[in-house]
Amino acid sequence: MDDVIVIGAGAAGLFCAMTAARRGRRVSVLEAGPKPGAKILISGGGRCNFTNLGTTAANFFSDNPHFAKSALAGFTPRDFLALVEGAGIAWHEKTLGQLFCDGSARQIVDLLVGASTEAGARIETGCAIGEITRTEEGFVLHTDRGTRRAARLVVATGGPSIPKLGASDFAWRLARKFGLRVVPAHPALVPLTITDAAIGAAFGAGSAAELAGVSFETIAGCGRARFREAALITHRGLSGPAILQVSTPWRPGAAITLDLLPGQDAQAMLREAKRRRPRASLGGVLGEHLPQRLAASLATLLPQATGRGMADLPDRALDGLAAHLGACPVQPSGSEGFARAEVSAGGVATSALSSKTMEARDIPGLFVIGEAVDVTGWLGGYNFQWAWSSGYCAGNNV
Ligand code: FDA
Repeated sequence: MDDVIVIGAGAAGLFCAMTAARRGRRVSVLEAGPKPGAKILISGGGRCNFTNLGTTAANFFSDNPHFAKSALAGFTPRDFLALVEGAGIAWHEKTLGQLFCDGSARQIVDLLVGASTEAGARIETGCAIGEITRTEEGFVLHTDRGTRRAARLVVATGGPSIPKLGASDFAWRLARKFGLRVVPAHPALVPLTITDAAIGAAFGAGSAAELAGVSFETIAGCGRARFREAALITHRGLSGPAILQVSTPWRPGAAITLDLLPGQDAQAMLREAKRRRPRASLGGVLGEHLPQRLAASLATLLPQATGRGMADLPDRALDGLAAHLGACPVQPSGSEGFARAEVSAGGVATSALSSKTMEARDIPGLFVIGEAVDVTGWLGGYNFQWAWSSGYCAGNNV
C-alpha cells in the first residue's frame, strides 16, 4: 500500500510526487501514456515557457478569482526558477516575464523525473486505470497491472486538449463519480473560426483566404478581458497570441472586439490625415499604420473612398470608420476545438476543493491539481506555474 498515488505524470503530477516523496511519503505515479511529461515536451515550441515572473491570481480565469492565490504564494515563479538554475538549465526571458529554456523542454521533464525518482517516487507509464473505489483506509484502484491501494489519491490528469497525446476528461469523470461539481469545460488558448461573411463585415475582405497570413498588433477584447498582442488572420479565421488569449473568456454566440490601432486616437488620426494630405487615398493613410493588405481591405468599408482622396470623404464617414477601427466587432462561428487548444478551461469546481491544500472538501484524501481544476491561465507560462504551485501545495498536504 502506498501513502500516495498520483494519477498522471504531467507537470502537476510530477511536481506533486517530487514534493511528497521529499517529505518521506511513499509515492507511486500512474501514467496512462508511454512517457511522462508529454505536454511539457511539446510546450513553448519545444523550449517550454516554464513560468512567468509576473504571475498573480489575476492572470487566471476561474469561477473563483481568489482561489489560486494561496498556492501561488506558497510556490512562486522565483521558486521554480531556483530549481531550474539549480539543475544548471540555461534560460532566457522572452517578453512580458515569460521564461523559456535556452535548450529544450526535455530538460524540464528530466529535472522533474530525476528529482521525483531520486526522492523515492516510482513512476509507472503505460498503466490503464479502471474502477476506483474509496474504503476506510483510502482508495483502491483497479489497473491492468493489478489492484493498487493508497491512503491518499491525487488526480493530476489534466484536461482533454490535444487528445492525440492521450489527453482525456478522466479527472472530471472521476470527480463527478465522487460527487464533486465540475464547471462545464471548453477549449481555451485556441484559434477562433470566422465565416467569410464575418471577415467581410470586420475587415472588408471577401474571404479569410484573401487576408490569410496578415498579422497585426491589436487589443483583443471579450467581456472585460483585454489583451494587447499580435493577431493573425488564417484561412479559417483568427489566431495569434491576442486571439488565443480572448478565446478563453469567449463563449459561442458572443462577439470579440479588436482595436486595430492600439494606443492611437483613430478619429484624430483620420481627420488630421484629411487636413494635411487631402489627396492621399484612404488605403494609403491606413497603410501607414497597418499591413498594406489589411489597410487596402479596410478602405473598402467606405465605398465612397474608391478613386477619391481624403478631402472628398465627409467627416461623418471618417468618424464612423474610426469607431470601427477602434473597436472592430468580430463574430466568431466557433473555435478549432480541443484538437488545437493549448488548455481546457473549466474543470473541477474550486468550491469543491480547499485552496490551502487542494483536497476535496467532502472527500478526505482526494486531491485534484493542475489543469483538471477550474483555474485556467493566460498564455505566457502561467499554466505551468499553476501546475507547479498546485502540485507543490498538494504534495505538502498528502
Ligand atoms: P498534463 O496534461 O501536463 O498531464 C496530465 C497527465 O495525465 C498526462 O501525462 C496524461 O497522459 C495523463 N493522463 C491522462 N489521463 C490519464 C489516465 N486516465 N490515467 C493515467 N494518466 C492519465 N503552458 C505553459 O505554461 N507554457 C507553455 O509553453 C505551454 N505550451 C503548451 C503548448 C501546447 C501545444 C499545449 C497543448 C499546452 C501548452 N501549455 C503551456 C499548457 C500546459 O501544457 C498545461 O497547462 C500543463 O501541462 C497542465 O499540467 P497538468 O499536469 O495539469 O496536465
